[in-house]
Amino acid sequence: MNAPESADVLRQHLIDPEICIRCNTCEETCPIDAITHDSNNYVVKADVCNGCMACVPPCPTGAIDNWRLVLKADAYSVDEQLGWDVLPEQGTTAALAPAAVDTSSAAASTPDNAIDDPSPEVDTVRGSTVPPWSAAKPYVNLYAHKAPVKATVVGNYRLTDEATESDIHHIVLDFGTIPFPVLEGQSIGILPPGASADGRAHHARQYSIASPRDGERPRYNNVSLTVKRVTQDHAGGATVGVCSNYLCDLKKGDAVDVIGPFGSTFLMPNHPDSHLLMICTGTGSAPMRAMTEYRRRRRLKGATGKLLLFFGARTKEELPYFGPLVNLPKDFIDTNLAFSRTPGQPKRYVQDAMRERAADVAQLLKDANTYIYVCGLKGMEDGVLQALKDVAERHGLNWETLWQTLKREGRLHLETY
Ligand code: FAD
Ligand code: A2P
Repeated sequence: MNAPESADVLRQHLIDPEICIRCNTCEETCPIDAITHDSNNYVVKADVCNGCMACVPPCPTGAIDNWRLVLKADAYSVDEQLGWDVLPEQGTTAALAPAAVDTSSAAASTPDNAIDDPSPEVDTVRGSTVPPWSAAKPYVNLYAHKAPVKATVVGNYRLTDEATESDIHHIVLDFGTIPFPVLEGQSIGILPPGASADGRAHHARQYSIASPRDGERPRYNNVSLTVKRVTQDHAGGATVGVCSNYLCDLKKGDAVDVIGPFGSTFLMPNHPDSHLLMICTGTGSAPMRAMTEYRRRRRLKGATGKLLLFFGARTKEELPYFGPLVNLPKDFIDTNLAFSRTPGQPKRYVQDAMRERAADVAQLLKDANTYIYVCGLKGMEDGVLQALKDVAERHGLNWETLWQTLKREGRLHLETY
């Protein structure tokens, strides 16, 4: 049971459908499969959730952190939750009198809620659930579904070669006079217009910010995104992704509904001698571009840490930002590209490139000032973690110990989708 209050009363764990951006992080994180979803909502199974809290810190919006005191016999079922557009109010019957007390996660993690291990996420989450110690403090959830910000499209350019199948766009959104403070590594939500087949408004999709905190253009109130047009589902069948096609087809001057910003852990360290080990595929390059550009702008102000980048794409023509990237000075960023579908060449993934550069990766792994970022295809996560383990062990490091340290110190950040 969730978090038993008494024999009859349960502190039921619920997800706020109005804030949830359906990023799947909670479902992936839950160590006991207590979270499920349909095309409408992400929900918690009352009879499986044990209130362990592993899913709470990684949630980028805080939608996961909702609790209601209910009579056990009246616990909200999965089917009920799947149909919700808003969370129900806390009931006020006499039996639920403690509801007057805080029902947030702070209350849920008190010793009387039957949680054996107060920090199980250390073992169930693969990356850090805390930011680097020196990261700037992010703003999150400034704008939600009910009151999105209208941004104006000021640029929309195809990044990939016209002759290739991968259609990836660089899209610049301007917020005008509306404050929208962001940090590198954060994301925003886009509300595509229209409704799905059941008549419900489309839910928001999340996109990483590709520009630094001071704007795509320095001191402008704008952000850029790196968006891939989805034309195939994960099984390879033809489809038309709702939001990615909407974004890629936007024209200059169009207005877009934006919510967020989101994300409070996948952030860059602010101390100038910190090293960034960045590993990405495809549109996973967005946060790496943001961080790299921030460092480039700060370089003249004394940032000295190393930047080591591993970037994978099908071909050179399908690698977003190929031109600008290869033009960056070698003494600023050490860039390693891995192409998987270059005609006449063997398939090469980022993890192959990491193994080739094992000595340099190991040197960074040994340095307590190194921060690791992995972003892109979900499928790369296993391979990249395995490559880090192999490199670490080949160079005399105990990976299990190092992995825990990296996670605990906010030095290993994974964002795959
Ligand atoms: P949908 O209409 O939602 O889906 C259509 C079909 O395609 C469905 O069957 C679905 O399962 C499948 N599908 C969904 N996404 C993909 C995909 N990526 N590849 C293949 N099939 C898919 N996307 C970017 O382009 N750039 C980003 O910077 C970016 N950052 C993200 C950051 C986070 C934290 C997360 C969780 C996701 C991010 N995404 C990013 C993915 C993005 O949120 C959308 O999922 C993606 O654009 C597809 O949305 P859609 O509405 O076009 O497709
Ligand atoms: P592949 O040619 O095998 O698909 P995409 O263009 O689909 O966004 O993919 C970006 C790059 O990531 C491609 O080169 C793709 O190779 C590669 N990739 C696919 N699966 C993995 C994986 N498990 N680990 C690392 N890279 C991968």
